Amino acid sequence: MKENFDISVQRFNEFADEFNERFKNIDSYQVHLDLFVSLAPEPVSSILELGCGPGNITGFLHGHFPDAQITAIDLAPRMIEIARRSLPSVDFRVMDVRKIRALKRQFDLVMCSFCLPFLSAEDTQKLIVDCAAQISPGGLIYISTMEGDSDNAGFEPTSFSGDSEVFFNYHLKASLEELLREAGIEIEHSVRQDYQAPDGRISTDLILIGRKRRG
Ligand SMILES: C[S@@+](CC[C@H](N)C(=O)[O-])C[C@H]1O[C@@H](n2cnc3c(N)ncnc32)[C@H](O)[C@@H]1O
Repeated sequence: MKENFDISVQRFNEFADEFNERFKNIDSYQVHLDLFVSLAPEPVSSILELGCGPGNITGFLHGHFPDAQITAIDLAPRMIEIARRSLPSVDFRVMDVRKIRALKRQFDLVMCSFCLPFLSAEDTQKLIVDCAAQISPGGLIYISTMEGDSDNAGFEPTSFSGDSEVFFNYHLKASLEELLREAGIEIEHSVRQDYQAPDGRISTDLILIGRKRRG
């Protein structure tokens, strides 16, 4: 039987073009993304992006760090196909973010933009520990997700998947901050902002930037 998670990834695969059209403009998060790149250690030679989708954020990172080696992963093959087309020099892979330990290396920056809404609390906890192990000392992680109590998890309509719903998980600011600190990551930026969907529904986005301790 398919789990909620598999259904969501199937939806991202099926509606990858629609998602790309709807979210290629990243203006709503520009201020946080600009802060992230401004806080980056020097030089940035390697970047890992988790749940890269059609490469909307990857393009921004590549524009800022054209010489960095970027590895960007997503489980939806169609997302990876679209991303590869626009950024041929990036190492895009169809890969599960729950398996990143297999990469066996460290990165100066880790980008995780809106992948956590599709991971359970348990998988999120493991991902943060795995990320901490794979960030170079002094390196940065960016996480954006939807804030809320885990009881709110469930299937919801989206602005890109027609009549098909996607399963969303919600995470709390305080819990994510605690997980990051426990994993050796100091929080440098942690803010909430409202997000208004095209149908008028408002949800709370959470944007976190953390730095891996040096010692
Ligand atoms: C909301 S999109 C985010 C795309 C882009 N990062 C952004 O911020 O616009 C979430 C992406 O995460 C991917 N995803 C969800 N769970 C995943 C997993 N376990 N491993 C890899 N990718 C995953 C989905 O396929 C989808 O492309």
